[in-house]
Amino acid sequence: MLLDRAVHYRAMVRAGRVSEALRGVAVCLAFFEDSTRTRVSFVLAAQRLGAIPVMLFAQGSSMSKGETLLDTLRTVVSMKVDLVVVRHRAAGAAAYLARHLDAGVINAGDGTHEHPTQGLLDLLTLRDAWHGRFEGRRIAIVGDLAHSRVARSAMFGLRTLGASVTVAGPATLLPAGIEAFGCEVAPSVEQAMRGADAVMALRIQRERMEQSLIPSTHEYARVWGVNAERVELMKPDAVVMHPGPFNRDVEITSDVVDGPRSVIWRQVENGAAVRCAVLERCAQGRRALTAAEWPEPLSVEVPE
Ligand code: NCD
Repeated sequence: MLLDRAVHYRAMVRAGRVSEALRGVAVCLAFFEDSTRTRVSFVLAAQRLGAIPVMLFAQGSSMSKGETLLDTLRTVVSMKVDLVVVRHRAAGAAAYLARHLDAGVINAGDGTHEHPTQGLLDLLTLRDAWHGRFEGRRIAIVGDLAHSRVARSAMFGLRTLGASVTVAGPATLLPAGIEAFGCEVAPSVEQAMRGADAVMALRIQRERMEQSLIPSTHEYARVWGVNAERVELMKPDAVVMHPGPFNRDVEITSDVVDGPRSVIWRQVENGAAVRCAVLERCAQGRRALTAAEWPEPLSVEVPE
């Protein structure tokens, strides 16, 4: 349902149209970790649906004075903010807020745990590339799986829809017990990609590493990088994905990013559409009424 609504909104955005679906709904975009794609696409989605977006960052808010995450967002929600989109370094941050806030909460990435709207945009991109069928298809997810919330959410979605997943990466970046997610582990990037219907390269997330888990970026690129030669191992119609931001010539070579198999910019476009669908779904019943729709004239009550 969300993917179908996203297709509807993608057409709306492409046509340069806007909607009133979220008129008057206030959406707080609370981004406590850096973001380009996710943040900009949520802001655009909110504005294209007629909502009122409010940005909140740790720096420049009272969190820098020691206010807790929950108190900060309670403050915002007390101003009748209906939805909170949150990105935070702690796994479980969005679920925690959803339990304690009187507002809809959307997870825009919680630490190394999940990134559900990215998972949805990846599913939409693959649904297009695979002509609507996930059964019998296989994707290789390659690289820093230990720190990748993108990979987790993609895996849950892909397994739900019937595709199979092979992962590959250096032992230091493969979480123990990853097979429990229902994926296969390949010993090399070549084996993961051979015969695959898609590959997803993951960024090396240095900011989440306490010590160096790879010997050098040069060696990483040579052993685990997605390059043109390896792309040739996949099916002839297979596509190349990356959630961005990418390190050109580290986990993926520049020519592959810009090459004919890349659907990386489609992923970005789909992200904007998926976030319209998710906001619409989460805001159901929260649209503000116009004056003409008010049930009775509002009276101003002056307290005694
Ligand atoms: C990712 C993220 O922040 O989880 N980017 C994104 O949202 N598209 C992946 C990353 O930072 O590597």
